[in-house]
Amino acid sequence: MDRYEQVIELAKRRGFLWNSFELYGGTAGFYDYGPLGSTLKRRIEQIWREIYVIQEGFMEIECPTIGIEEVFIASGHVGGFSDPLCECKQCGEAFRADHLIKHIVEEADGLSNEELDSIIAQHNVKCPECGGEFGKTYEFNLMFKTQIGPGNGRKGYLRPETAQGMFVDFLRLARYYRDKLPFGATQIGKSYRNEISPRQGVIRLREFTQAEAEIFIDPRNKKHPNIQRFENTLLNLYSDEAQDMGESQIMTVKEAVSKGIIAHEFLAYQVALVNHFLQRVGISPDKLRFRQHRKDEMAHYAIDCWDAEILTERFGWVEVVGIADRTDYDLSAHANMSKTELSIYIEYEQPRMVEKFVIRPNMGKMGPVFKGKAKLIAEALKALPKEAFENDEIKVSVDGEIFIVPRDMVEFAHETIKVSGENIVPHVIEPSFGIDRIFYALLEHAYDEEVVSTKDSVEHNDEETRIVLRFKKEVSPVNVAVLPLLTRQELIEPSKEIANRLREKGLLVAYDDSGTIGRRYRRNDEIGTPYCVTIDYDTLKDGTVTIRDRDSMQQVRAEVATIEEVLYDMIYRDKKFETAGKPV
Ligand code: GLY
Repeated sequence: MDRYEQVIELAKRRGFLWNSFELYGGTAGFYDYGPLGSTLKRRIEQIWREIYVIQEGFMEIECPTIGIEEVFIASGHVGGFSDPLCECKQCGEAFRADHLIKHIVEEADGLSNEELDSIIAQHNVKCPECGGEFGKTYEFNLMFKTQIGPGNGRKGYLRPETAQGMFVDFLRLARYYRDKLPFGATQIGKSYRNEISPRQGVIRLREFTQAEAEIFIDPRNKKHPNIQRFENTLLNLYSDEAQDMGESQIMTVKEAVSKGIIAHEFLAYQVALVNHFLQRVGISPDKLRFRQHRKDEMAHYAIDCWDAEILTERFGWVEVVGIADRTDYDLSAHANMSKTELSIYIEYEQPRMVEKFVIRPNMGKMGPVFKGKAKLIAEALKALPKEAFENDEIKVSVDGEIFIVPRDMVEFAHETIKVSGENIVPHVIEPSFGIDRIFYALLEHAYDEEVVSTKDSVEHNDEETRIVLRFKKEVSPVNVAVLPLLTRQELIEPSKEIANRLREKGLLVAYDDSGTIGRRYRRNDEIGTPYCVTIDYDTLKDGTVTIRDRDSMQQVRAEVATIEEVLYDMIYRDKKFETAGKPV
């Protein structure tokens, strides 16, 4: 068993996650989160909310997971969100053509379908399932199509990213934030991609959870007001240039910006914030890097993108977050499609005096020639750009009719006018998190096996292997296990009382009185419970219990009277036992 299999085996056995539709044989790209998995996932999402919604102030919104066609035509997904599909002529099995040649070409991502076909032919690549020949590669759109309403109802798509909801809602969000840049909105929810043939288990899902922030900034000011928070933070950066050398570089945020490795402060702050979040939830810093997209792999909407990549044993470096500079791509596209201006009026600090070219139609000359249409033609002339007046005759269209106006019917002047502000189409910086991949990476990075003596075990041999999920304490799905030492009524009753008090404090408690104490400790190690509270006969005499630490397996005796404060402080305030539950 490799590490992926070990983790998935544990995840299934202990109720973290398993294949969806198991009863019917399952289907690739769908997973169910079980009781512990759902809880762990919520904890990751809750920390994300704490950082992005509460600390950064990017309020959460919730849009439909089905979008209408216009949205995805504008966003470019209808036209360009596809992967190269190649089918076996013999068995009909579908493959991603670029994946079929991964062992031949390192960078298969940017190749055209013709190039892919020619490599497949040249290297005689055959169907891995039946050895058959492949047909021609073609583009397969990854969006799930649906129909809204019966009959010839409106065409719809399951959203491939949550982002579009924030762009479509831009004007409402701008009003909410009183038209002041920068502002941001977030969304956590399901997105859907009809992957051609997902063969990477939980790493490539057809339905997955995204947590995205769309941060609207003034394109003329990409400084971040809070950059000093991360200036000295070290990042492991694998820039476009570093990829040519084959080695990432560790440097501070300040250095990355000053050397132009990360293009601007706003983007750098977001990279550092992602770094902060991933480490807070428990990703090992030595298995985390930020890789810049190469020019030929950039998404259609981005001019720059850094992926947070996490090292996994089976899949190598896996992208878990994309931090993209989407410029004004989406807002401009939706403005065009909806014929609605999507901009923000920004007032200058000081009004500016601006010289303006003005057009003054001579109504005395135009009236007799154009009669009743003269006024409308004059208005249309005023709206023309300066270049339209370079010839002797000026063409102008009114209600679809073209009029030719001699140049001497128009006079020109330069006027100095006072301008107080201008309309700006904001640019968007987007950190986009794949929560399911982070979830898997947490399990893998937390997974540990260690040989322990049987002093703390149920077996009679001297040593045994203990599996332990070393989650961060605040992330562990179960906060505390409450265990009566023996299944005796006199121990069960106070145990249940303690469990209830801990629950009242908001802690998620697993009460367990079945099996030997050693076996119950092992069960909790396997699900990452940071603390086990054991109630024994001394509890009845002196009002103390033992608290067992998952990682060190050390036990301390603690007063029952303050047990909920002590545990809460150790789990959520990262306090040591000695100071936990005591006033600061
Ligand atoms: N919103 C970025 C993505 O879904 O890839």
